[in-house]
Amino acid sequence: MTIEGTDEVLRYAENIPITPDEAVEAAVEFTALPRRRGVVRRLLRRPGPTIALAYLVVLGLAAVFAPLVAPYDPNELDIPNRFATPSWSHPFGTDDLGRDLLSRIIFGARVSLVVSLSVIAIAMSIALAVGLFSGYTGGRVDGVLMRVADGGLSFPPLVLALAVAGILGPGVRNVIVALSIVFVFGLTRLVRGTALAIREEPFIEASLAAGSRTRRILAHRVLPNVRSPLLIAATFGIAAVLLAEAGLAYLGLGPRPPTASWGSMLRQAYDRALYSEPWQLLVPGIAIAVTIFAFNVFGDGLRDVLGVGRSKKARRSERRGLTTVDRAILPDGAGAAVPRGAGPDGALLAIEGLCVEFVGDRGISRVVEQVSLAIRPGETVGLVGESGSGKTVTSLSVMRLVPSPPGRIVAGSIRFDGRDLLDLSFKDMRAMRGTEISMIFQDPMTSLDPAFTIGSQLLEAQRLHGKVSRAQARARALELLDLVGIPAPEARLRQYPHQLSGGLRQRVMIAIALANEPKLLIADEPTTALDVTVQAQILDLLRRLQRELGMAILFVTHDLGVIADLCDRVAVMYAGQIIEEASVDDLFAHPLHPYTEGLLGAMPQVGRLEERLAVIRGQVPLPHEMPAGCRFAARCDYALDGCRESAVALIPRDGSLVRCARVEELSLRGAE
Ligand SMILES: Nc1ncnc2c1ncn2[C@@H]1O[C@H](COP(=O)(O)OP(=O)(O)O)[C@@H](O)[C@H]1O
Ligand code: SF4
Ligand SMILES: [Mg+2]
Repeated sequence: MTIEGTDEVLRYAENIPITPDEAVEAAVEFTALPRRRGVVRRLLRRPGPTIALAYLVVLGLAAVFAPLVAPYDPNELDIPNRFATPSWSHPFGTDDLGRDLLSRIIFGARVSLVVSLSVIAIAMSIALAVGLFSGYTGGRVDGVLMRVADGGLSFPPLVLALAVAGILGPGVRNVIVALSIVFVFGLTRLVRGTALAIREEPFIEASLAAGSRTRRILAHRVLPNVRSPLLIAATFGIAAVLLAEAGLAYLGLGPRPPTASWGSMLRQAYDRALYSEPWQLLVPGIAIAVTIFAFNVFGDGLRDVLGVGRSKKARRSERRGLTTVDRAILPDGAGAAVPRGAGPDGALLAIEGLCVEFVGDRGISRVVEQVSLAIRPGETVGLVGESGSGKTVTSLSVMRLVPSPPGRIVAGSIRFDGRDLLDLSFKDMRAMRGTEISMIFQDPMTSLDPAFTIGSQLLEAQRLHGKVSRAQARARALELLDLVGIPAPEARLRQYPHQLSGGLRQRVMIAIALANEPKLLIADEPTTALDVTVQAQILDLLRRLQRELGMAILFVTHDLGVIADLCDRVAVMYAGQIIEEASVDDLFAHPLHPYTEGLLGAMPQVGRLEERLAVIRGQVPLPHEMPAGCRFAARCDYALDGCRESAVALIPRDGSLVRCARVEELSLRGAE
């Protein structure tokens, strides 16, 4: 149960009845509902929403089976026993006509829930049809429909409901009609707004280009993306309707007597017992408050679990460019299992149990799962694995540069020089980036700003982080260009990125990264975009710089060959997990994991020119389709049934770490 939930209930209580706009506003910022079985499981791991759901289920069942569960006929009079206080025979007491209050609450729940659910079902159906059509078609039709909706929204909701119910007269059916009219405008605006935003998305353009019909695009592309806001709006909306219905019944526009509804019970207690038996007001009052609270807590939980609701903190970090860290998202058991230690002794960088998720149309996908990796000062560690295995996300997590949303770090710690980077504020993290830790990327063209000269970008890198005079920065810029082996540095300072070759641009990127003498350089596929000779030169350069400057390097690549002559240690990543970690010599001579063996086999080697290169069959499983057991099983030549049964742990063996259940039995082939 969150503070936000409490706020919402209080807000609802203050603005009786809540404006439909408010009910939907709470949901406007949410994105698509993930199609994921885990949603229910995650929801049930949270005590607040689980208790709320349990209460709502019990209430729903009691309402459906009211004649069976209510101890008395709700309309049975027992005048001699009027205003009886709670007792075993009448747990909630009796009213002014001696009717059993518990039975009336149970039967009253029928009316209240039928009204709430019907109103939301009717208003939602209309809102979906009109909102989708209006938002997707746009133009004049949209303009007219939205002016009508604005007109409806400009009436105070209670006044509108009263006016409609007043014209139609009392009775459950008329209340449903009145409240459906009140709620339809806000919901239509919500659906329309979301549809409008989605219309601009590239995947809609792609569907149009593929010749899909409008009806199909609406049903298969737009609708799935408005499901989530609608589901959450519906949960909050039911609570709002419940309150509005009680308000109307209280004002005499509810079901006709003697039919019980919670609002009409409140009215009767107010009229007949306010001064003599004021506790009578509590019975329907508490039922209304608790039920509304339950719907809101449940809605809140749904929003959190779907991962589509964003806290104020998350919104702030999104504006500022800092990956959100939310360790509370993981269920308790799993969170506890994830280490948050200091890492090995003497480590400069110690990633421990890092888990990173993305929230998207296809649900929540965990793309980095319990990754632990340490780098000592001056050490070069390789991170290798097929494309999509999570290397970039791991490296960006160290910089807290995974975009949030959709990304978020849900567990683990990243200690750098004794501080946990995951606890740092945006300001502290910004001070760290480019000074203590630098990063270079695959494509220097997209990392360098095409509008500025090389010189101004080199100067800016230094002046961002310290008081350096222009002359000092310029002198250092020349020194740096010289350091990274760029000939005629003077002339280069005045050039723009597009005037340089790919290799030179990557050297400039390295120079910028080194400007403030970082302790750690993260190089994410720095040579992938370059041709082979330039690639070799850049690797030579990195090796030389590492020797001269003594910085630590995390070298990310999909190419084991590059690792061989640059790194001290190597970690192999597969499908979001580290599956083997060893010294480079050990890994090449005696791989322990079948995937590493496959990678080595796929690597061109001098002594094996005559052989065809091996290929690892199949593909990396998609993040939302991860198998329960060994993630490599579907592609592994050594897989047995046992491998698929349960998750395989990373275990130490001969000074290395490996994640293979058959490591004891297998004898794998290394590189020659
Ligand atoms: N911004 C993003 N939104 C959603 N998914 C992402 C995003 N960035 C990366 N991913 C997913 O994370 C997984 C790991 O990606 P990445 O770390 O880039 O792999 P690698 O660098 O090993 O090639 C992939 O499945 C990719 O689709
Ligand atoms: S656990 Fe089994 S399937 Fe997985 S890598 Fe080892 S042998 Fe292959
Ligand atoms: Mg990558």
